[in-house]
Amino acid sequence: MKRFFIETFGCQMNVVDSEKAAALLRRLGYELTEDPQQAELILLNTCSVREKPEEKVYSRIRQIRSRSRRVLIGVMGCVAQLYGRRLLERVPGVDFVLGTQALGQLPEILERLQQGQPLVHTRTPNRPEFLEISPAERRLRHVAYVTIMEGCDKFCTFCIVPFTRGRERSRSPLRILAEVRALAEAGYQEVHLLGQNVNSYGLSERLELGQRLRFPNLLRLLAEVGGIPRLKFTTSHPRDFTPEIVRVIEEYPNLCNWVHLPPQSGSDRILALMNRGYTRAEYLRRIEWIRSAKREIAVTGDIIVGFPGETERDFQQTMALIEEVEFDGLYIFKYSPRPGTPAARLSDQVPDEVKTERLMRLEQRQREIQLKRWQRYVGRVIEVLVEGKSAKSESHWSGHTSDNIVVNFEDSRENIEGALVKVEITRVNPHSLFGRSLEVLR
Ligand code: SAH
Ligand code: SF4
Ligand code: F3S
Repeated sequence: MKRFFIETFGCQMNVVDSEKAAALLRRLGYELTEDPQQAELILLNTCSVREKPEEKVYSRIRQIRSRSRRVLIGVMGCVAQLYGRRLLERVPGVDFVLGTQALGQLPEILERLQQGQPLVHTRTPNRPEFLEISPAERRLRHVAYVTIMEGCDKFCTFCIVPFTRGRERSRSPLRILAEVRALAEAGYQEVHLLGQNVNSYGLSERLELGQRLRFPNLLRLLAEVGGIPRLKFTTSHPRDFTPEIVRVIEEYPNLCNWVHLPPQSGSDRILALMNRGYTRAEYLRRIEWIRSAKREIAVTGDIIVGFPGETERDFQQTMALIEEVEFDGLYIFKYSPRPGTPAARLSDQVPDEVKTERLMRLEQRQREIQLKRWQRYVGRVIEVLVEGKSAKSESHWSGHTSDNIVVNFEDSRENIEGALVKVEITRVNPHSLFGRSLEVLR
């Protein structure tokens, strides 16, 4: 039996691709090991959205190679797609490169590796675009990530994703429906629909079912399946976000109370330079739709600080935006120039110290806002999907709420992993809520 180890960087798209790669390898008779030292094959599933995760991959390859000459190293994911053959020149010791668009060719590549040449695959014209795996082949038993669309046609000027994931394409609603039904039958508690911009599902092409199926109707179709208590989706792009999405969330209690809607900046000038396709006022209108829903819906977002040309005044507008919106969670990134993107060529790059300083100011303010906002949970009883023991204590468990907030709680039961539990919230921490469990629901 050959053993493989797989390390995943980047977003949930990569998490899904790692699951698929693992499924393909198991079909070939490989076995997963958690210990890279035991593996005959190491797959690195890479991310290139910023410079740091990309650099991490190169150092990991060198580190693995210095430990063993014999182990096979395969690089997959976004760095693989972006650089292809050039990756072999950048860092020696790689046996094969498998782009995001060529994942299905993994079995073929392993067969051809016998011939001893480094192999590169980044294109797959004649293969099904969405590789499928069965519930039994999944890594997690309670939460399932389901891809509904891939790629991106938005070309924000800072972003590498359109180059690493290719043109936007939507998966057949019938295939998605079949997969979600199978997950319901297998007892999954949560299905998380994935796409770079889920809101533009079905916009770029005609689909089966005889007509165009837009995102809100796909949501309705899947929410009707029943048997799965939680349905989530990311990422929502503000440009294609419509009031209808809020209405669907209101209609179906199994749709989670959470929307991830990244603004990126609060300055109209910067938003235009980013090619985001909306203004600050338009973004705020979407927040209003969400906040006036019949059910409370949490909003989270992403912000980039230090985009080329960002002045203190622009930054102040971002600060004012986060004050006004009061996000329930916010990821803040320093702008990182990506090769080949328009923003990387702009001359007025912001010095790193300024980016760091803006990042820290924003994080500090967001911490205060979040602590205040999350107070509303104290004393409430909320449902938590238990993911495992908490990192800090053996007697504490950890999971997520419907609005995607982490909750740690006390529970003396032997094993409640994968259960939906009612938890009374007693305290707010900077990154999580804390409480005590009352009863197991399912
Ligand atoms: N499709 C999503 C974002 C996918 S990338 C959207 O449009 O919102 C995830 C996040 O990484 C982005 O929201 C952005 O905040 C950040 N990001 C992307 N490119 C970046 C870059 N060059 N530098 C810093 N952060 C970046
Ligand atoms: Fe990148 Fe913009 Fe596409 Fe999001 S919408 S993946 S930020 S190009
Ligand atoms: Fe990274 Fe690729 Fe995702 S660049 S964020 S792994 S789409």
